[in-house]
Amino acid sequence: MPRELITLQAGQCGNQIGSQFWEHLCKDHGISQDGTLEEYASEGSAGDRKDVFFYQADDEHYVPRAILVDTEPRVIGGIMNGPYGKLYNPENIHVSKNGGGAGNNWGQGYGAGEKIQDELIEMIDREADGSDSLEGFMLLHSIAGGTGSGLGSFLLEKLSDAYPKKLIQTYSVFPNSEETSDVVVQPYNSVLAMRRLVDHADSVVVLDNAQLARIAADRLHLSNPSYSQTNQLVSTVMGASTLTLRYPGYMNNDLVGMLASLIPTPRAHFLMTSYTPFTSDTIERGKATTKTSVLDVMRRLLQPKNRMVSTQGASKKACYISILNILQGDSIDPRDVHKSLVRIREKHLASFIPWGPASIQVALAKRGPYTAATHRVNGLMLANHTGIAGIFKRTLDQYDRLRKRNAFLDMYKREPMFANDLSEFDESYETVTELMAEYRAAEGPDYISGRVDG
Ligand code: GTP
Repeated sequence: MPRELITLQAGQCGNQIGSQFWEHLCKDHGISQDGTLEEYASEGSAGDRKDVFFYQADDEHYVPRAILVDTEPRVIGGIMNGPYGKLYNPENIHVSKNGGGAGNNWGQGYGAGEKIQDELIEMIDREADGSDSLEGFMLLHSIAGGTGSGLGSFLLEKLSDAYPKKLIQTYSVFPNSEETSDVVVQPYNSVLAMRRLVDHADSVVVLDNAQLARIAADRLHLSNPSYSQTNQLVSTVMGASTLTLRYPGYMNNDLVGMLASLIPTPRAHFLMTSYTPFTSDTIERGKATTKTSVLDVMRRLLQPKNRMVSTQGASKKACYISILNILQGDSIDPRDVHKSLVRIREKHLASFIPWGPASIQVALAKRGPYTAATHRVNGLMLANHTGIAGIFKRTLDQYDRLRKRNAFLDMYKREPMFANDLSEFDESYETVTELMAEYRAAEGPDYISGRVDG
């Protein structure tokens, strides 16, 4: 059973990240730019499951289970005219006819989704019907602009309504909260989208643009990274976090199982990632000369500077709820893993919540046979950490500053859904505040019993 995943990409950020993700998957599975198998990949079995992310057309070429949506043509046009343009199913692409984008306005993006809902649902249903045992959906988007945020929110509502039993995972790019030149209304858009991420997604992988830029600067020595360069970090992380699904071993072969161990309570489903060592095809200086051992990698994964989310503003008691490390290497000795776990415990390198097991789960993943290994061991950490509340707090603080002055609300009031009523803003704010409180409560010993009593 392949346990297929359908990917939905919305807006500029979602589609740009998506295009690099598909490129990564193609390289990993020996699939060429037009979807045919590379000659070197056509003999023998690679032990992979291409069908989780791709289906085969009648002529056997591979097609991504991907739906691309945008309200302006530039990004998707670039993808279709680029080297991988022939890869995608043209029936799964929607670019709005008027083509002006959603003007960094969540309401406009959401409204655009409503207008084209029949077409969206048709594409989703067709893809779902083409799967044998659909596991769920992955949404790629940013939460700061109009389309990925608003139309993405609309998609989340529709998906959870139409497919209540299927998993919904998102890779959500949070704006760089330290950079004021980015979209000025991003706190409004972010808070409105976060309500949907809380209510309609099962798992959200949070990617913080401020931290992505910092990692690009520190690890890859890029002082002013382009989106294409930061997206390379993101696609590496996405590739690694889906590795055990695509190259299955004995464990962690399905996303539901992987997430179940990471997310013990349903609302606290916002995950952080770390990856090490990073290298980049295009950046020579990024090709570090480190010697990697299992302990090195596991230790580095725990360092805050390697996290893709900054926990600045989090409480002093911030700690891990759960950790899953996916280690990639050709000859990793399980005894080294065991020794490293003991060392991490002895050195108190990770502090855990007081109400659950303080355990780091480790999955050993195979490497795809077609991409050259850059290091002996690479590692990804997927973690549920209460310090994620820091990014919610920063977003809420910025929202407060705008909302107190009623700044920039006119552009939202022009949208029919906000014409007479801004309660959606206040309710979304409330939801994010509760989420922040939930993570703070998780730092105390009575978290679980408190929930039962309450
Ligand atoms: P409209 O432009 O309003 O139609 O919405 P949109 O969803 O297309 O906007 P976009 O995706 O550009 O969202 C803006 C936010 O996404 C800002 O915080 C940008 O910094 C960020 N962003 C845009 N493109 C990328 C990208 O390729 N990678 C990353 N990491 N962030 C991006």
